[in-house]
Amino acid sequence: MELRRAALSFTNTALAPFSSLPNPSLSGRDGKRWRVVCSNSTKPSQGSQMVVSITGATGFISQRLVQKLLADDHKVRVLTRSRAKARLVFPAEKFPEILIAEEEEWEKCIQGSNGVVNLAGMPISTRWSSEIKKEIKKSRINVTSKIVGSINRTNPDFRPSVLVSATAIGYYGTSETHSFDETSPSGNDYLSEVCREWEARASEVDNNVRLVLIRIGIVLGKDGGALAKMIPLFMMFAGGPLGSGRQWFSWIHLDDLVNLICEALTNPSYKGVINGTAPNPVRLSQMCDHLGQVIGRPSWLPVPEFALKVVLGEGASVVLEGQKVLPVRAKELGFSFQYPYVKEALKAIVKEL
Ligand SMILES: NC(=O)c1ccc[n+]([C@@H]2O[C@H](COP(=O)([O-])OP(=O)(O)OC[C@H]3O[C@@H](n4cnc5c(N)ncnc54)[C@H](OP(=O)(O)O)[C@@H]3O)[C@@H](O)[C@H]2O)c1
Repeated sequence: MELRRAALSFTNTALAPFSSLPNPSLSGRDGKRWRVVCSNSTKPSQGSQMVVSITGATGFISQRLVQKLLADDHKVRVLTRSRAKARLVFPAEKFPEILIAEEEEWEKCIQGSNGVVNLAGMPISTRWSSEIKKEIKKSRINVTSKIVGSINRTNPDFRPSVLVSATAIGYYGTSETHSFDETSPSGNDYLSEVCREWEARASEVDNNVRLVLIRIGIVLGKDGGALAKMIPLFMMFAGGPLGSGRQWFSWIHLDDLVNLICEALTNPSYKGVINGTAPNPVRLSQMCDHLGQVIGRPSWLPVPEFALKVVLGEGASVVLEGQKVLPVRAKELGFSFQYPYVKEALKAIVKEL
């Protein structure tokens, strides 16, 4: 108890003694807060074990990423806006080794980390008032600026060597006829503007830090993202195309995205923009046919646009107006997709439900 009351010094090497404490996070299990110093007196780990700081770590993608990093024996620092929320997502009993930090402690946690993954951002599948649009952009830009500033201020000896920062395929704008790769120009709609500014902030990171910008497609997983909203719609409307059905749906299975992020953290060849999409995008009508088959609903009754907008708000444009985005860089880098085809991806996800 006395030990828990003491000011704790958190370093990479201090993680082992930490694990023996009842709760190594910045907050105690009994709700009391302990002052924890993420000391920069230890250089980032030199071996194969990494210390990774993650923003947005309580989200849909990050939860799986955290689990994968821990399973691979790495150390995780969760950079969150709310310790209480993060503790619910990562209960101390199940995740005793995770360190949870609120905003004022982020910089200290970044010092001594080997890598930072930036996955924060307000959800876009809401009704877009002009206020919400501002917030969608601001939430991404502010968090990105904050962590880039922290990385740049860190003494080079203790600085993370890699920043993997999320962006989205919305960068390219939408099209029913063109396909896009990493060299394609940006679009001229609201989401492309958000992505350009988001990427620009990440690109301000010090030149000695390897920057990987992952333009993420529509992530398919059972616990969140578009699919968690589409399945109930399918159940209600018997399934069928959403909107015209001709729009492109550039998807990626959550496990493939998480593997891509892990590769980007560890493999020095991963640098610059990489599309986080599966190699075989589909038209939305095909996606809906497969989803209907996999969940056992007939796929003949179109889900009307208004229903989608009720559920997804203006954010429905993400599925109503798509883009065909190909993972050219990931393929050049030799990344192996576990789920190259959407039907297999959907089958695997539905099996988990
Ligand atoms: N899921 C997809 O299909 C997809 C596709 C393309 C791009 N992306 C991008 O990938 C990132 C992660 O996606 P996700 O689906 O995992 O998102 P998510 O489940 O909505 O989680 C995002 C996290 O960001 C933080 N956050 C939420 N609102 C915020 C705000 N106003 N200001 C600052 N931080 C905020 C939250 O973490 P705390 O509360 O712990 O701070 C939240 O857990 C997002 O930036 C998203 O735009 C996702």
